[in-house]
Parts: sequence; C-alpha cells; structure tokens
Amino acid sequence: MTESSIPSQLRELYARAMLRADPTDWPQLEGRAKAAAELGRRAFAERDRTAWEIVQAVEWRLHRASALRPNDPGDVLVLDALYRAEEATLPDEKPPAGLDPKSFCELLARTIAEHSSADGKLIGLMKDGNLSVEDWQFFGYQWVPAAIDFTRQIALCSLTLPRESAKFLYLNLYDEIGKGNPEFAHWNLLTKFLGPLGVRFDDESSILAWAAPEVLAMVNTQNRLIWHREPGWALGSMFLAERLVPSELDQVRKAALGIDLPKGSLDFFEDHVETDVGHAEDWLTIIRGMLETYEQQCVVHAAALQRGRVQRRAWDGAFEAWQVWKKTGVAPHVRFEELEGAARP
Ligand SMILES: [Fe+2]
Ligand SMILES: [Fe+2]
Repeated sequence: MTESSIPSQLRELYARAMLRADPTDWPQLEGRAKAAAELGRRAFAERDRTAWEIVQAVEWRLHRASALRPNDPGDVLVLDALYRAEEATLPDEKPPAGLDPKSFCELLARTIAEHSSADGKLIGLMKDGNLSVEDWQFFGYQWVPAAIDFTRQIALCSLTLPRESAKFLYLNLYDEIGKGNPEFAHWNLLTKFLGPLGVRFDDESSILAWAAPEVLAMVNTQNRLIWHREPGWALGSMFLAERLVPSELDQVRKAALGIDLPKGSLDFFEDHVETDVGHAEDWLTIIRGMLETYEQQCVVHAAALQRGRVQRRAWDGAFEAWQVWKKTGVAPHVRFEELEGAARP
C-alpha cells in the first residue's frame, strides 16, 4: 500500500465510524459513535483541517448511501455525534425580539442578501472569460453535490409541515420535475450543461475527486439542518438557498454564454433565474405563516445564517480549489481513496 498523507489515527477513526455492524451489537454501535465524536471534537473544537475533511466525507457518504434517510442505527448514531460536536461550537446569534412575522421576514431577506456570492471571486473569474472547457468542467463538478439530491431535500422538508404549508413544496417539486415533463426536469436540464463539459455527474468517485471540501460541507450543512425535527431549521436554510440562486446563477449564465456549447445547454440557468424567485417567495410564505413564537424566529434566523455562511464559503472554497488545481494539477478534495483504503478490512 502506498504512503498515506492522512495520519493513521484519523484513518482508523474513519474506518471505525464507517464500519457497519449488526444493529443488535451495542458495544460495536457505541464504538462507531465514539469514533465519530472524537472525529467531531478534532474537526470542530480543535479545528483540525484533516479531521474536518474526514467529517465531510463521512457525512456525505452516509447520507448518499441512504438517499438522505439514514436508518441504520449505527449511521444515525455517527451523524448524531458529528452534528452535536459541530453545533456545540456554533455561535448563538439571535434576531431582535418583538418583530411581527412580516417584519421578521423582511429582516431575514435583508440579512441573507449579505451572503450572496454574486460579487464573489469565483463569479468574477467566470465573467473575466478566458476559461477553458476544462476550467468549466472543474466548476461543473462544484454544482453536482448541491443539485444531485435537491428534490429529496425539498421532499424531506415537506414531511414536517402541515398540509397547508406543504402544498407549496409539492408545487416546488412539480417545477423540479419539469411541470410533469421529465425532459425539462431541473436535474436533466443541468446534465445538458454538464454532459458536453465532460462532467461525470453520475459517478460518485468522480464527484468526490473534484468537488472542493467546502462544497461538500455546504450540502452536509443543509442535510444537518433538515435532520432537526423543528421545521424552522429546514425552512430558514432552504429559503436562503433559493433566494440567492437567481442572482448567482444569472451571473454564471452570462459568463457561460462565452463557451461553445450545444443549443439548450444553458436552459438550467435560464429556468432558475425565473422560477427560483417564486420558490423563494413560497418558502417565505410558509415561514410567515408558521412563526408564532420568538423561539421559532430564532431557529429560522440561525438556520439561514448557518446556511448563508457555508454557501459563501463553498463558492470561495471552489475558487481557491481551482487556483490550487491550476498550479499543482490536483484538485483539492476529501481524500476518500486513502480513507476507503483504511476502511477496508
Ligand atoms: Fe430547480
Ligand atoms: Fe427552485
């Protein structure tokens, strides 16, 4: 076996956290949870970058393997331990008290505008042009993690809502599936852009080899927020995501006009610049209708801030990863090949 660049202790923690056990074997399940708690402590309390990347690999893999509905008892314990370790280190920022639902929603919309990446370095680089097809392929891989399970995330959010509110999410899903025409389903539109660029969007290893760790962290954060039972966590974070999409993707669309691509390749961007304005309004309507207490406002506010920060970090992280890749020829990514080697018995 070749030398690993990951300390052996961390590789062992990954292997222990990932190894599925007989669900009735309590000592083994406890061992998985303890390994995860130790990884989480190093990643979040000690801010160890390698441990943090390993946590991103664990969370991504466990959620993907179960289509975002982990039900293996060990997987649930591992995710629970990692989420607790992370949330113990997050700041508790509260919105002003005494706002009525309308004023609170206005505050929320203003606050999250600060997290837009429409003026960030990555979009600046795309707009400057002079990017090769390989560069666009690199960026294409950065979209896949957030898009691949987006409809599942919406569906999961709908589960905790009363029917009156959930109907907006069913409508959102209807849009996602191309209003009944799979040819226009958003994932299929995205693949019309990614395919000609050579992005292997269905291949897990390719996604993990190219996506910047910060991009995985954004999706993992979204899944962590949906994991909470109170619907406010999902509402605040999904509202932020769809609210920022139109301004960000509109910039990308303009930049992508410069690439020589088959007709229809940019339909994904064109569609989202319009429909996500409506989707963001729908999330806000649900939030407005459900905010009865200050505690609920605090949850939605915290979720939007957490998702906003991690989204901005993802775009910046993708830019920094691109710089490293251009210089070294290797795209920074969670080193799953080495980790998987460690996980094999
Ligand atoms: Fe969409
Ligand atoms: Fe949308």
